[in-house]
Amino acid sequence: MLDLAAGLADTGLMAARLVGESGRLIVTDFTPEMVAAARRRAEELGVQNVEFRVLDAERMDLKTDILDGVLCRWAYMLMIDPSAAFAETRRVLRPGGRLAFSVWAARERNPALSLVGRVLESQGHIPPPDPEAPSAFAMADPGRIRELVVGAGFAEPEIEEVSFRWPFADQDAYWRYVTETAASASPILRALSPEVQNTVREQVHEAARPYQSGEGYDFPAVCLNAVTY
Ligand SMILES: C[S@@+](CC[C@H](N)C(=O)[O-])C[C@H]1O[C@@H](n2cnc3c(N)ncnc32)[C@H](O)[C@@H]1O
Repeated sequence: MLDLAAGLADTGLMAARLVGESGRLIVTDFTPEMVAAARRRAEELGVQNVEFRVLDAERMDLKTDILDGVLCRWAYMLMIDPSAAFAETRRVLRPGGRLAFSVWAARERNPALSLVGRVLESQGHIPPPDPEAPSAFAMADPGRIRELVVGAGFAEPEIEEVSFRWPFADQDAYWRYVTETAASASPILRALSPEVQNTVREQVHEAARPYQSGEGYDFPAVCLNAVTY
């Protein structure tokens, strides 16, 4: 089993327990620092049936027909060439091997992720999003998912919407998330002067008012989860 673009491998390390000791998981990401952090996480958790590799999803250094399953959470839509990544995924899976992946549903349904972009856009700090370019919401249309998956030689996917809540304990916690970990917004925010950052921060908190809960926020969130073979 492969966890593709695994980041810290939250998903893969859960799956490693499910496949049991006779099963094996390969945790991969194209960022060496992510792979190193995932390895440390596995050590902390005592997960042993796992190996770690730096691997580009668009050109996998893996043999053909060798895997029973591939997992990929929140990454295909960020890839420069998702068609190549799906074709590579089909190549390394054995016939009948399963692919399960998750991408984000539309911007409006994921305010925790999209609020900052909207504010930055309204202030002219970034251009309006290019629907063709890689982004958190580039695969929010189930038709696009089907086109990519079937185009890569997979069967028609089953696609399920999964809703959940995304809470932040206080406004600082949300601002830290936005400035430190949100891959698209944080470099832009950090490049702004402190005064402009403060203005953006106030506007983000204003835009997040409908989701206020206690000292912090409780955002709705929706993913599209797909399974195919
Ligand atoms: C939003 S994170 C998701 C990480 C993890 N799957 C999770 O759900 O927590 C996206 C990850 O995709 C990785 N990534 C993006 N493009 C990639 C590619 N072409 N090949 C491999 N990894 C890629 C990034 O390095 C990053 O770790």
